[in-house]
Amino acid sequence: MEQEIEVKLKKLDDKNQSAYMGGGEARQAKHRTGGRLTARERLDVLLDPGSFVELDRFITHRCQNFGMGEKKIAGDGVITGYGRINGKTVYVYSQDFTVFGGSMSRTQANKILKIQEMAMKNGCPIIGLNDSGGARIQEGVEALAGYADIFLKNTLASGVVPQISAIMGPCAGGAVYSPSLTDFIFMVKDTSYMFVTGPDVIKTVTHEEVTKEELGGALTHNQKSGVAHFATDNDKHCLLMIRELLNFLPMNNLDDTPYLETSDKADRVDESLNEIVPSNPKKPYDIKEIIKKTVDESYFLEVQEHYAQNIVIGYARYNGRSVGIVANQPQVLAGCLNIQASIKAARFVRFCDAFNIPIVSFVDVPGFLPGTDQEWAGVITHGAKLLYAYAEATVPKVTIVTRKAYGGAYDVMSSKHLRGDINLAYPTAEIAVMGAEGAVNIVFRNEIKNADDVDKTRKELIENYESQFANPYVAAELGYIDEVIEPAITRKRIIESLEMLKNKKDTNPPKKHGNIPL
Ligand code: HXC
Repeated sequence: MEQEIEVKLKKLDDKNQSAYMGGGEARQAKHRTGGRLTARERLDVLLDPGSFVELDRFITHRCQNFGMGEKKIAGDGVITGYGRINGKTVYVYSQDFTVFGGSMSRTQANKILKIQEMAMKNGCPIIGLNDSGGARIQEGVEALAGYADIFLKNTLASGVVPQISAIMGPCAGGAVYSPSLTDFIFMVKDTSYMFVTGPDVIKTVTHEEVTKEELGGALTHNQKSGVAHFATDNDKHCLLMIRELLNFLPMNNLDDTPYLETSDKADRVDESLNEIVPSNPKKPYDIKEIIKKTVDESYFLEVQEHYAQNIVIGYARYNGRSVGIVANQPQVLAGCLNIQASIKAARFVRFCDAFNIPIVSFVDVPGFLPGTDQEWAGVITHGAKLLYAYAEATVPKVTIVTRKAYGGAYDVMSSKHLRGDINLAYPTAEIAVMGAEGAVNIVFRNEIKNADDVDKTRKELIENYESQFANPYVAAELGYIDEVIEPAITRKRIIESLEMLKNKKDTNPPKKHGNIPL
């Protein structure tokens, strides 16, 4: 009897060892060139040590086309299961490029679908490590069906559990659409690519010559297209960054906002904040300086750092609680809102709202960026996305106007009128329809034209406008600004506001879903 069990255990061990080898030593060695980790090594870095539990290790494909019946590898190109990140349960899949190029088969899809379902049912984040040549060519429509089933699950899971994708190799064709339906995309510099059609197809169809890197490398998608949210240096860095992001996110849409103990005092006053906003309204400054001086331990995890830098988004903590921060950046395009910035911030605001993460907005915005480029590309529709996102958000919303809040952009940036809960302003704030110069040139066009001394008259009118309107006090008199504060107490006031709003309940009218201007 004892011998019998030994034989059975040996068989299990052999099967496990064979599955662990994926596509075999030679393919693994090739895969490692360029510093890439194998699919299993990646899970080791991503998850708390020893916490990974694998499911469906022995699944194989059922395809008979093109001699595939003879080529079966346990696991079928993806490793799936669950584990923990800083103690929190997450569901994971990691595609193994050494097995049929990590390509998507019917059975690979079934494995991924199983953990997607479990993640939703159990209210846990799902993380996909993608490394795949797309639909498994030999399987034809079966592979396409598998993809579509995953896309459907991604869509149903959206707003229920956080979904995170890492692109860790070439991801072509269908392999890019599941990540694009998820909340965050991480890419690895020099070794990861995303494209719907690759360089060869593009050359045939449009005669354009483009390298993989230019077409869909990490920097392309982080700087140009805005498809990706993080560009990381290598596999390990990518996986550690995912762990970092997870710390700011709740497990699901019903969970509380995460909390991390901090030694940074809630009532910390910082006099240096009084010096950051220049008195000359045309002079730029770095809004990130204000963010970092106010958040816990100066730690700000920026999202989409390289894209639409005229708006800054990311996560930080105030008195231990996660918040999403949105801030105009006066250093880039004077902080104007344009199409890219509106889309970037709108998506972020919607994610925070879906997952009960309060939103803190720092406002210094001279308006929407003027120009035919913007108008013809639909800045009206795209700008409205951010308006819509802020308006529908029911999480606590705290807004600080540091300097300019002009025109439509004033309304958009979490104003009182869009259900901003606490709206603060610095004494340097200028809340008006537009800047003094522009306003005077329009309102007093005739007076200026007919004046004896045009320059002197214009100067006087500008000064008069500035003293009357380029300040926070008109808005404060109307109750659109709750308090004008000394910048030094920004942290203290934000924390007090968030604490006061901790049990906020607000709702939107019942509906199937809204129609955000896409
Ligand atoms: C089956 C595939 C495969 C695929 C790669 N392989 N892609 N097998 N289906 N889609 C296999 C290769 O045959 C090879 O097997 C191994 O994976 C490694 O591939 P290589 O080409 O040697 O690797 P590399 O040189 O690094 O190139 C990687 C690659 C290239 C750029 C991804 O393989 C490639 O272009 N693949 C095809 C991409 C593609 O067109 N996919 C279909 C997209 S259509 P061996 O046995 O030699 O190791 C699609 C539609 C879905 O996805 C739409 C849904 C909306």
